[in-house]
Amino acid sequence: MQSDKTLNKMRSALSAVGIPTPSDKDPIVLDESAKLNIIAWGDPQISSVSPLRSSRLSGACRDIANMQGKADVLMLLGDICEFGKEAEFRMTAGIINEVSDKYEHFLAVSGNHDIRLKDYKSQLERFNRFIKSVVGGIAGPDTRYYFSTEINSYKFIMMGSDSAAFESSHISDRQIEWLDTEIASCGGKPVFVLNHQTLKRTNGLPVTWLGKGSWRGSVGRSSDKIKAVFEKHKNVIFITGHLHYGVSRYNFEDYGAYKSLSLPTVGVLNHGNFSKNGQGYIISVYSDRIVMRARVFGDGEYVNKDIPNSYIEFALD
Ligand SMILES: [Fe+2]
Repeated sequence: MQSDKTLNKMRSALSAVGIPTPSDKDPIVLDESAKLNIIAWGDPQISSVSPLRSSRLSGACRDIANMQGKADVLMLLGDICEFGKEAEFRMTAGIINEVSDKYEHFLAVSGNHDIRLKDYKSQLERFNRFIKSVVGGIAGPDTRYYFSTEINSYKFIMMGSDSAAFESSHISDRQIEWLDTEIASCGGKPVFVLNHQTLKRTNGLPVTWLGKGSWRGSVGRSSDKIKAVFEKHKNVIFITGHLHYGVSRYNFEDYGAYKSLSLPTVGVLNHGNFSKNGQGYIISVYSDRIVMRARVFGDGEYVNKDIPNSYIEFALD
């Protein structure tokens, strides 16, 4: 048996080359009194030309393997793969399926990397095949990326681009009308809206997209229309990825009617002052409040409480 000293040496050697080795000293202990427990990760961006990304996702999954309890949802917020290739989706599913006994349902939205430069329809079918290949995966129709589902009587709305945009998303008026109807049908109960990109000038944009442009890093030109829909309702929890920005003051913003959580990346390098690999959030939903805890899954540790948005708690309306 290896001593703690030897294990620590191995850990630091592996972590020096970017391979996560999560500690099992402070495992996730899910609060079973919550109505919903969600593991939320952004941008694995798996690629055969960057094996470290698979190592990082796999490291995060090892932390999940140590978890006490079973999450209701494991969600990925887009850019599942670098090039949207069949083999990349297969690699991703293989890694996640290793911990399929640790969550009940799997949700994912498509990101720009998953769909760009590809035939729209056949890539949508490929994306849905990927979701169905993950244990517990809930896929939408083969006609559009957007759809909704209910888990433990809470609605989850998956948005997605209506054409193969390169960096932003093309959210059609038809999808925006549908979004409004879907949120309205919740009657004020918390509703989770998942999209790869956040809205313009939120979650630290443009700083969090390295300071470029007025729309870059955001969902794009439909941003104001989506925002107007969110503002009509209440208890809308908007969850996104895309920015690859480590836990910081930018990750969570409370706009009253809607709350905007931008996830760090689990697979690629995080920007910002806190740039550890394999970051994400654990979200616990109660009847009167929601708690979000940032974790470095790659290290098997919660993000230190000195870092803004390491712990988020807000009352429901
Ligand atoms: Fe992206």
